[in-house]
Amino acid sequence: MAVGKGAKRAYAGYSKNLDKAENAELTHVRKGTPCGEFLRRFWHPIALSDEVRHLPKRARALGEDLVVFRDRRGRLGCLDLHCSHRGTSLEFALVTETGLRCCYHGWLYDVDGTILETPGEPPASRLAASICHGAYPVREHGGLIFGYFGPLDEQPEFFVTDAAAIDGNECHPYFLPFACNWLQVHENSMDPLHSVFLHTRTSGVQFSDAFGVLPVVSYKRTDLGVISTATRRTGELVWVRVNDELTPNIAQFGPPWEDGTREKLFMPPAITRWILPIDDTHCATVGWRHFNAMVDPDHRGRPEEIGRGKVDFMGQQPDRPYEERQIQPGDYDAQVSQRPIAVHALENLGTSDVGITLLRRNVARGVATVKNGKRLEQPKLDSGHVLRTYAHDTVLRLPARSNDDAAFLAATGETVTRITLATASLPRGERRPQAIRQLREAGLC
Ligand code: FES
Ligand SMILES: [Fe+2]
Repeated sequence: MAVGKGAKRAYAGYSKNLDKAENAELTHVRKGTPCGEFLRRFWHPIALSDEVRHLPKRARALGEDLVVFRDRRGRLGCLDLHCSHRGTSLEFALVTETGLRCCYHGWLYDVDGTILETPGEPPASRLAASICHGAYPVREHGGLIFGYFGPLDEQPEFFVTDAAAIDGNECHPYFLPFACNWLQVHENSMDPLHSVFLHTRTSGVQFSDAFGVLPVVSYKRTDLGVISTATRRTGELVWVRVNDELTPNIAQFGPPWEDGTREKLFMPPAITRWILPIDDTHCATVGWRHFNAMVDPDHRGRPEEIGRGKVDFMGQQPDRPYEERQIQPGDYDAQVSQRPIAVHALENLGTSDVGITLLRRNVARGVATVKNGKRLEQPKLDSGHVLRTYAHDTVLRLPARSNDDAAFLAATGETVTRITLATASLPRGERRPQAIRQLREAGLC
């Protein structure tokens, strides 16, 4: 029987064309590329504070080789890695009172890139004054050092999210290198369904049994990016998890150990993380695990397991034997193996991938704005440079409806999402009480 054009065929290997290019416009990050220029309008975490004490720290971001250091007076600097004299790496430089002194011929750099001394030159030399060494603005918060790599007149205000600004919160920083492009790792933030399969059904229970329940999922664009709402039944309870995607590369999630078995209302996220684009085929998940009484009342987090190359939940690094990773793959294995740069033209997106599509559209919109020479809109910040965000976990006692529980779950998720968005503009202290009041009025608690 003849097979019609476009029909499925078995053993199709030879007839398939896998030779498709990646979407360079959304993935390539070097200076001068559309996405590279877009990403250069944001602050990025580039190192852990603990790594920048007495010695310079070599770093890499957006395809740039860098050195991060703290001079003896405690001032932070981020410079181009290679000395402007003859290129020696400044990771071997001497930290001084007033900056960084190259090991090879002693040129001294201030934190802003000014060359303070060229000691091998005659006193009247104008060489230092004629050279500008690359330097970048830096900020430090919660044990992370952030850099800004774009034009100075477009430098945005530095901010932290409200999750990091909760009274008594401790930010525990981590830095996890991934051997693949930044976008596919960031896209994971808008893929709540992978938790059902990768983290529960196909790899065994990696976090909690409840993740294996197929949720009702919806996505909404926000002023900051996209949110996903995953609503699932856990016995007599309904667990609603709202994840944040803050374009271009921040995401927030509840704790990985959540099992939806205890009532809770608008519990803040346990994780804020950036995907640092290192170069086109490398990135890092850099972020904070939050520790506070609301998010971890039972002290399930393990601060001693959080830092460079480690975080206190499994599957985030290639740190297990290969065979074990094949049997129980984690996030690292699933995302890095999408190819060094995931090829969008080879994907077949379904209805469950709406969040991915929305996220890509947001990135594409930002890329186009910068490409067209326009300025990006900056988010409104509360006092203390705090950004109000949306992620939370809410668990409600709502027994199953015998007629159409799936529709009930969807409606519950929609109501929680609506309240989440509707209360976002309230002052921070009033937001949660007001959201709980609205939940009560909706008959959900
Ligand atoms: S290469 Fe750095 S001072 Fe000569
Ligand atoms: Fe995951």
